Amino acid sequence: MKRLGILTGGGDAPGLNAVIRAAVKTAIYDYGCEVVGIRDGYDGFIDDGGVIPLGIEEVRGILVRGGTILGAANRGNPYARKVIRDGKEVTIDVSDEIIKGIERLNLDALLVLGGDGTLHSAHELYLKGAPIIGVPKTIDNDIGGTEATFGFDTAVTTATEAIDKLHTTAEAHHRVMVLELMGRNAGFITLHAGISGGADVILIPEIPFKFEAVMAKVRQRVERGYLFSIVAVSEGAKPVSGEQVFSREGDDVYVPRLGGIGQVVGEHIEKQGFETRVTVLGHVQRGGTPTPFDRWLATRYGAAAVRLAAQGKFDRMVSLQCGKIVDISLAEAIAITKRVDIKDDAVITARGMGIVFGDETPPQPSPNSNK
Ligand code: F6P
Repeated sequence: MKRLGILTGGGDAPGLNAVIRAAVKTAIYDYGCEVVGIRDGYDGFIDDGGVIPLGIEEVRGILVRGGTILGAANRGNPYARKVIRDGKEVTIDVSDEIIKGIERLNLDALLVLGGDGTLHSAHELYLKGAPIIGVPKTIDNDIGGTEATFGFDTAVTTATEAIDKLHTTAEAHHRVMVLELMGRNAGFITLHAGISGGADVILIPEIPFKFEAVMAKVRQRVERGYLFSIVAVSEGAKPVSGEQVFSREGDDVYVPRLGGIGQVVGEHIEKQGFETRVTVLGHVQRGGTPTPFDRWLATRYGAAAVRLAAQGKFDRMVSLQCGKIVDISLAEAIAITKRVDIKDDAVITARGMGIVFGDETPPQPSPNSNK
């Protein structure tokens, strides 16, 4: 392996720079290889100035930095790129140009750091001849075949801190605080942060909820003298007899943008006579310095991806299984998106502690409990 390319596709996630740093250092120190960065996802193969050299100097100090030094583009699907032709916006397939770009740059391997969409494109490009290795990135933690994606732990930490802060003001004002969290169609961020932050209600896409069950929990707490409640709700959660809430429709290039369910839940609670405020944490969850766990995972992923590249093991993705870094086929990774297992001990534990998921009314405390 003489020349390695790296790109970061889709939305950013804390730890992208840690992967880049580990990959560059491993490629240079271990394999004496030259490394280039492709800017703004796959777009860098097409745009002027889209390729930059990556040496030890370029990656110095980036371990702790959020974002990505290469830029990201979640409109960067090579099979659906928006361009202006004859004054009109049209969607075109630029996958052949990307294959040519890889050849032009003499890349022996290309590391693609991305989520579901980017890894789908990566597999398709491999089938057209691109020497690709995937690295699973997303705060949503929804990629199949791996126990963890980097970025998730940082997002959960940020979301948990938000719940901690909402707790104190909720208690002071006797309010219900609704916190809307990211995650698309997977409830991992909300489940983990909800349990870690001690939320009273956790609403996730995997468990459609009933407003009555949410209200029963809020009322029950007030009856027991707890005049405030914390409701953590995933952006992808939906009522049993309703739909997900979107703030923008999708098209050929953009996926539909989830957002607004927190407001719907908050308004419902307030109409029942409980003073309520809604916070949407949004992109704060994607920003900031990665946690030590995400740095540790990202570093191991970056180095392992370079080792795969050196062995010519393409169309593979690095993955965490039972604490070890292994590799699986990209086809396997993208075949099934990961969702919260509602039979898993995390959900059982939360239910057992009185946390309500909205599908069933809260259990009554035993008569000899003090509250
Ligand atoms: O996939 C990561 C994610 O942050 C989701 O949790 C969220 O729904 C989406 O990306 C937001 O995308 P954008 O940055 O395009 O608004």
